[in-house]
Amino acid sequence: MSDAPARHIAVLVEEVLHWLDPQPGQIWVDGTLGAGGHSRRLAERVGPTGRIYSLDRDRAAVEKATQQLADLPITPLWANYRDLAAVLDDVGVPQVDGVLLDIGLSSDQLADAERGFSFAADGPLDLRFDVSEGRPAVDLVNHKGEQELADLIYKYGEERHSRRIARLIVERRRDRPFVNAAELADVVRKAVPHSPDARRIDPATRTFQALRIAVNDELGALETFLRDAPTRVRPGGRVGIISFHSLEDRIVKEAFRDDPRWTPLTKKPVVATDRETAENPRSRSAKLRVAATTNDINVGKTSREG
Ligand SMILES: C[S@@+](CC[C@H](N)C(=O)[O-])C[C@H]1O[C@@H](n2cnc3c(N)ncnc32)[C@H](O)[C@@H]1O
Repeated sequence: MSDAPARHIAVLVEEVLHWLDPQPGQIWVDGTLGAGGHSRRLAERVGPTGRIYSLDRDRAAVEKATQQLADLPITPLWANYRDLAAVLDDVGVPQVDGVLLDIGLSSDQLADAERGFSFAADGPLDLRFDVSEGRPAVDLVNHKGEQELADLIYKYGEERHSRRIARLIVERRRDRPFVNAAELADVVRKAVPHSPDARRIDPATRTFQALRIAVNDELGALETFLRDAPTRVRPGGRVGIISFHSLEDRIVKEAFRDDPRWTPLTKKPVVATDRETAENPRSRSAKLRVAATTNDINVGKTSREG
């Protein structure tokens, strides 16, 4: 990690507290600790008799938070939220009152040039949250077939120009394999037609998103979590998931709607207020959905619905 102070600002904090409604003495899981903004607020609500188990795949995030949150009833754990059941077994907790996930990338990770998340910085093209596991994005970019690369960029990046991007990647790597994030960003920018609209996001954004989702198996982690969480959250407990792109939001929406073990509490996703988006542009694409577990009691729709 860089030595810069944590710059990640937690999104939808008041909305999370409103919809999850954590109470004194309760036990919660924050599956995506990051810089600890949400964990801190959950911990203040559950108070000294409660506990927040806060997971992150990124070891650096866990180490940093362990120092910064030591005065609160928070137990930071280096773990993947897809392993919720095993993590709770390890700490001897059969069920919790609820879980929060705030998926994706933190601003701290983006600021860390060594990880390749920021294609403006000339760091190695890695993109893993947990660098001890799996393979870095550079392997994928240097070795995957053109068709497979195009499909991956199209599916996970929702990128219209995926074929052209994949073709230029394969042409470029024949001369010289990719090493750095910035090299890939340059090739992608060349492949995507120039837009005169200065407000457009960097053309490399979608391709980097696609690679990040692939190397971290982010959608697989979310699906596994949604499948296992109902058994580890007490009946009537709540789960809130903040996602940042439509693929994730669709997975959450469909699981909450179609799996009878969930009762969706938010009909539509909760989004940031104008004020929050003005203060924190990252919140613009955040969507919060909340459900209660219905496993063996009839929770019914709550009066908060709407
Ligand atoms: C958007 S940030 C969370 C920010 C946090 N809510 C806060 O208030 O600072 C997402 C974090 O989730 C972590 N992460 C992503 N996928 C994960 C997974 N499957 N299991 C655990 N942590 C994960 C990332 O490493 C990153 O630190």
